Amino acid sequence: MLAIIGGTGLTRMPGVEWLAERSAMTSLGEASAPVLEAQLEGQRVLFLARHGHPHKVPPHKINYRANLLALQAAGASRILAVNAVGGIDPALVPGTLVVPDQMIDYSHGREATFFDGCYLPLKHIDFTSPYSEFMRQQLLQAGESEGMALVQQGVYATTQGPRLETAAEVRRLAQDGCTLVGMTGMPEAALARELELPYACLSLVVNPAAGLVAGEITLAGMEAVLEQGIGRVMQLLKAVVRRQAEPMI
Ligand code: HPA
Repeated sequence: MLAIIGGTGLTRMPGVEWLAERSAMTSLGEASAPVLEAQLEGQRVLFLARHGHPHKVPPHKINYRANLLALQAAGASRILAVNAVGGIDPALVPGTLVVPDQMIDYSHGREATFFDGCYLPLKHIDFTSPYSEFMRQQLLQAGESEGMALVQQGVYATTQGPRLETAAEVRRLAQDGCTLVGMTGMPEAALARELELPYACLSLVVNPAAGLVAGEITLAGMEAVLEQGIGRVMQLLKAVVRRQAEPMI
C-alpha cells in the first residue's frame, strides 16, 4: 500500500475519506501520530503526519525510526514524502514543486539507522541513488498528465534546524551542489531504504533560502506559499494514486 508522509502544511489530507487509525506505538518508541488509512481516488493509502497532528514535533526531535516502523507495520510498501523547503537555486522560486534525485545530509544527533547493532545487526545499504527512480518517475509522469510543471531533479540538503540557515551556510550548501534545503529529508529516506521501502520526495519551495533575497524569512510568508501550494500537492498525489490503480509491469 502507498504511504504518504505529510510535512509542514500537510498534517491532514483535505477531502479524504478516513477509514481507520493504526497505533503510533512501535518497538522503537512512538511515531509522531497514529498512521491513518484512507480512501483516495478509490484506492487505500496510508498517511502519517511527520510532525504530528496538530504540528508539534520539531524536525530534530522526530522519531523517524518509529515513523517508518509504524508505516511498515500498517502495511506500507512504498512511501511518498512531502516536504516544505527553501530554494537555494535562484530558479526555485516559492511555489515551485521539485522531485529531488540527490541529497546531502548535514543533520546530526538523530537516530539515523536501524542497523545500530542493537535493533538490527549491522548492514551497509547502498545509497548511491537515495530516492526510488521508479517512484520519482511516477511523480513526474503524474505531473505531466496534470499539466503541472515539476522540476525533475534537485539536491536536497538536510539541515538540523529548527533555526533557519545563515547566509554563509546557504552559500556553502550552494557550493556543495545543493539546490534546496529542508530539515526533514534525512534520516527518513535512509531509514526507508534500510527497510527496503521505495521512497521518493516531493518538495514544495516555500521561501528563497537565507541570504538570497533581502529581508527576513518569515513564518507567515512560508505559510502563505504553503496554503497556496498544498492544493497542487494534493492534485499530484491523487494523480499518482490513480496511476497506481493501473496494472504495474
Ligand atoms: N531552510 C531549512 N528548512 C526549510 C526552509 C529553509 O529555508 N524552508 C522550509 N524549510
